[in-house]
Amino acid sequence: MQNYYELKISINPDMEEIVSDICFTHFRCEGVVLAEETYKDLVMTATTQGTLRVFLTEIDTNPIEILKTERELLKDRGFSDEELGSWEVTIDEKENQDWSKKWKEKWDVTHVTEKIAVVPSWLSYEPKENEITIILDPGCAFGTGTHQTTQLCMKALEKYLKNGDTVADIGMGSGILSILAKKLGAKTVYGCDIDETVIDVAKENAIKNGVKISNDNGIIFELNTADKITRKFDFVCANILHNVLFEIMGDLKNIMKDSGILSLSGILKEKQDIVLEAIRRENLKIKDTITQDQWISFVVTK
Ligand SMILES: C[S@@+](CC[C@H](N)C(=O)[O-])C[C@H]1O[C@@H](n2cnc3c(N)ncnc32)[C@H](O)[C@@H]1O
Repeated sequence: MQNYYELKISINPDMEEIVSDICFTHFRCEGVVLAEETYKDLVMTATTQGTLRVFLTEIDTNPIEILKTERELLKDRGFSDEELGSWEVTIDEKENQDWSKKWKEKWDVTHVTEKIAVVPSWLSYEPKENEITIILDPGCAFGTGTHQTTQLCMKALEKYLKNGDTVADIGMGSGILSILAKKLGAKTVYGCDIDETVIDVAKENAIKNGVKISNDNGIIFELNTADKITRKFDFVCANILHNVLFEIMGDLKNIMKDSGILSLSGILKEKQDIVLEAIRRENLKIKDTITQDQWISFVVTK
């Protein structure tokens, strides 16, 4: 069994999503876990906040240099040292003891709302009456259903999606939001991402959930960005970093029908002004604000 590498990065826990995204983009990354966690008989007994553990199958770049550069870029965008954490990095080569199995053992069913549960594909789960389950194996893609930003979009979909709606999921990652949209009654869903490695992961997840990959009442996943899409949708969701939302807000608006709804997530509360500025710039109206811990999401209309 091939050995693997573990990076331990000291971060402010609020930066989990941002640093995970950087790792998936630049490294041969198989998974990330926030915090040192100690398990006894699969029950978590302790965590230490603030360490991101990143599992790499190979090191073909210099992770320390890349993280240093990315941290500087975030500082240029206005993040303070305190917001970022130190990003001190240690790298260990580990003997492979089937770590991916151990990593998987740490996941359990996530109850996002009364009605929605996310079930890791390797667990069996008996849904409650009327409960929607999403069976998921995120592979290398973001979107396990455990992150607040994903859950905020899921809550917006549950609250505002109407039966028969057409949906666009910009930055679909594991495909979790697209699959939920379909299970909540969407007619068709179009998901796109800039990361080609997530396309097959998302398709496999759709199939695991009995959702067909088709233009005809199914889901389509492809490599694309909102600016290249010419169709218009009843419901658009985008769970992407606040600075990306700032840049693409006009493109997101262009793919909304006049009566359409846009769910924006991926926003730390302290960065909400950046997204609010783009909402104002594009003359969008805030219909709802949903928060969870240090994260905020906006539901907007034209
Ligand atoms: C935070 S993840 C969200 C995944 C999933 N939708 C969820 O809610 O859990 C953000 C995803 O957006 C993708 N992404 C980043 N910038 C993008 C852009 N400009 N257009 C489309 N996708 C983008 C990333 O590759 C990543 O898969």
